[in-house]
Amino acid sequence: MHGKDFDIRTSTAHRIRFTRDAFSVDNRMLINLLATNGHAKILVFIDAGVAKAFPDLDFQINNYLERMPGFDSRGTIIQTGGEFCKQDANTLQAAWDIIEQAGIDRHSYIVCIGGGAYLDVIGLAAATAHRGIRFVRFPTTTLAQDDSGVGVKNGINAYGKKNFLGTFAVPYAVVNDFTFLRGQPETERRAGIVEAVKVALVKDAAFFHWIEDNCDQLTALHPHTLEETVERSALLHASHIAYGGDPFETGNSRPLDFGHWSAHKMEQLTDFALSHADAVGIGVALDTVYSWKTGRLDESSAMRILSVLKKLQLATWHTSFDMRTPDGTRAVFVGLEEFREHLGGELTVLLLKDIGKGEDVHSMDTHLLNECIDWLKLDADVTINH
Ligand SMILES: NC(=O)c1ccc[n+]([C@@H]2O[C@H](COP(=O)([O-])OP(=O)(O)OC[C@H]3O[C@@H](n4cnc5c(N)ncnc54)[C@H](O)[C@@H]3O)[C@@H](O)[C@H]2O)c1
Ligand SMILES: [Zn+2]
Repeated sequence: MHGKDFDIRTSTAHRIRFTRDAFSVDNRMLINLLATNGHAKILVFIDAGVAKAFPDLDFQINNYLERMPGFDSRGTIIQTGGEFCKQDANTLQAAWDIIEQAGIDRHSYIVCIGGGAYLDVIGLAAATAHRGIRFVRFPTTTLAQDDSGVGVKNGINAYGKKNFLGTFAVPYAVVNDFTFLRGQPETERRAGIVEAVKVALVKDAAFFHWIEDNCDQLTALHPHTLEETVERSALLHASHIAYGGDPFETGNSRPLDFGHWSAHKMEQLTDFALSHADAVGIGVALDTVYSWKTGRLDESSAMRILSVLKKLQLATWHTSFDMRTPDGTRAVFVGLEEFREHLGGELTVLLLKDIGKGEDVHSMDTHLLNECIDWLKLDADVTINH
């Protein structure tokens, strides 16, 4: 037997931009960002929730596209977004059909404007049609701008599993246009800040202290404070992906998934009535208390973290904690095994040693987790009843 191993190396730019009113005629950011061969086609997919919140958007975008020198506009498509569009392959199939009919090729651009769910579906369509078309994301929710939109993943749910079908694909660019955030209902806009708190806790103590100091303005959704939070969080997430050594998640360690093992399970247990952001708030609270009760994190730091979550009006306990499997264990604990399965190797959960400093552990003590959940129930200010 003989053979040879080759080393195929690629390097991909991950372009992250921040702006306001990207489609106003005097904003040249998009024109400057996209390279054209003189006649590149461009097709824009819009999440219907965003189109509804900004009734002039469709007209504005078509007007902008027509004025883009060197581009051949294939117009705009509006589809229903939200978790609904990821639940089956219908939206994906419709997107493939539209891409094929529009004659989109590998030198074309697909632009997608929407929440994290819709970006995931159109991102998968773009990554698979012609084996990959240049994809420009415009995340429109706080959560998508401060976290998922700057990631390199896409996917849809299948076989009852979240993101079972998907790819890793670095988008051509991500444009965080802060103007879109104003369309999102305030409660959801505020809840999405949780991913910024999460990344601060695992990566950047100074950022956490800044959030703490600016918590009142953040809770009030003061635009400049919110924008600075989103920007710092997006850059921390992108920096971890680019320089953290594992952009395509082949290893077990996932610091950006702090608090997520229980969050994913709670979303599933509630049939996604509990949003990702709300679930992450509760998951971060649980793993913070567990970090404290296992002696890793000091009590005052744990209390500061819980206080920030509560000031941001996030719940720290949820009724799904009371759901049990037939053998009497808490259903949320099944999330640990599912998280391990998702990682594909050894269970690895990040806990906090300090604010801004994590530590990977490979087992969780369910007796102690039960105590933490009971403690959180007594401590909670806000609970969500769905
Ligand atoms: N790919 C990844 O790495 C990754 C990471 C984390 C989360 N996600 C996914 O992101 C999804 C959650 O995303 P989300 O929190 O952005 O919410 P979402 O995409 O589910 O959107 C929620 C609702 O808000 C609407 N909407 C979006 N932007 C709006 C705006 N500006 N104004 C008014 N309405 C608007 C949508 O139409 C939808 O009805 C989940 O499916 C989750 O799995 C993906
Ligand atoms: Zn998340």
